[in-house]
Amino acid sequence: MLSQAGTLLHSVTERTFTDELATLPGKVRFDESLASRTTFGVGGRAACLFSPESPLALKRAIELAAACGVPWLALGAGSNLLVADEGFSGLVLSTERLRGVALNEASLRAFAGEPLPALVNLADLAGCQSLNFLAGIPGSFGGAIAMNAGIPGRAIGDVVEELAVFLPDGTFEVLSPKDCQFAYRSSAILERKLTIIWARLRLTDESYDREALLARRRASQPVSAKSAGCVFRNPPFLSAGRLIDAAGLKGVRVGMAKVSEQHANFIVNLGGASSAEIRSLIDIVRRKVYKSFRVWLELEIRVIEG
Ligand code: EPU
Repeated sequence: MLSQAGTLLHSVTERTFTDELATLPGKVRFDESLASRTTFGVGGRAACLFSPESPLALKRAIELAAACGVPWLALGAGSNLLVADEGFSGLVLSTERLRGVALNEASLRAFAGEPLPALVNLADLAGCQSLNFLAGIPGSFGGAIAMNAGIPGRAIGDVVEELAVFLPDGTFEVLSPKDCQFAYRSSAILERKLTIIWARLRLTDESYDREALLARRRASQPVSAKSAGCVFRNPPFLSAGRLIDAAGLKGVRVGMAKVSEQHANFIVNLGGASSAEIRSLIDIVRRKVYKSFRVWLELEIRVIEG
């Protein structure tokens, strides 16, 4: 484990680790707030956060963490994360500086740190509407692919042609969509702890009405509140939002965490909610829905423990 910033580093390994990290192209920060890096706006601090400026710097950081036994996790735009109040005592690798896009008539290739909404806009402006089903989904490009973000009936994994990743030991690999085992809001990328460097999406002549999708989202979801999107996965053939709503849970609060009145599958941070409050609201929702309908809801959001 890394020591908190500002305190003495206790072991030679840690000293070597942070010294080495500081030599890589990118920005190293200690004791960095994770609340400000997640859309929920909750969670403690990361002992160390590194934003590599190149794929090679990312690779070296992964190799270093593996060699020094430092726990690490990749962070995109933090739109699907609930970070513990205790924070994360290892290394957070942010993809925020891994940017760049190439667009042609048949495909869009981008680095993992590009914001997904910017890519959707870019394709739309270039006259391609086939990515518009992703309109309004927050998050980084890499995070959206790892989570297989989408709408009912269509997800980003359906249009991935190829992607480049680092394995947990830093080895570079180019994967086909088949290797990724995309499924509803999940993929082998998360399960195998792969770090996406870039990906290429197929552009088609399909067309989704961006404005209509955005308007529908604005009408049915608390888009301007602090949230992590849908908290639970939809159970097969059911809607988590409808179940939570029917269980009478809209508006239920624990401290500053509240089940949205607009869409019951969203928990909103009214301002200053703690991670523990959100966790206890999640437990209440799960138990009540189970009691009412005998359905145990599975989390869609990722919970990061200290
Ligand atoms: N519903 C209720 N009460 C509610 C919310 C929904 O009765 O409080 C009903 C709706 O009226 C509708 C049904 O439940 O009949 C489904 O609701 P909705 O159309 O809002 O879709 P959803 O299944 O709740 C899914 C994705 C969203 C995505 C929308 C786009 C999941 C868990 N959610 O929501 O994704 O934006 O479709 O239509 O798959 C996310 O993944 O974070 C997310 C927000």
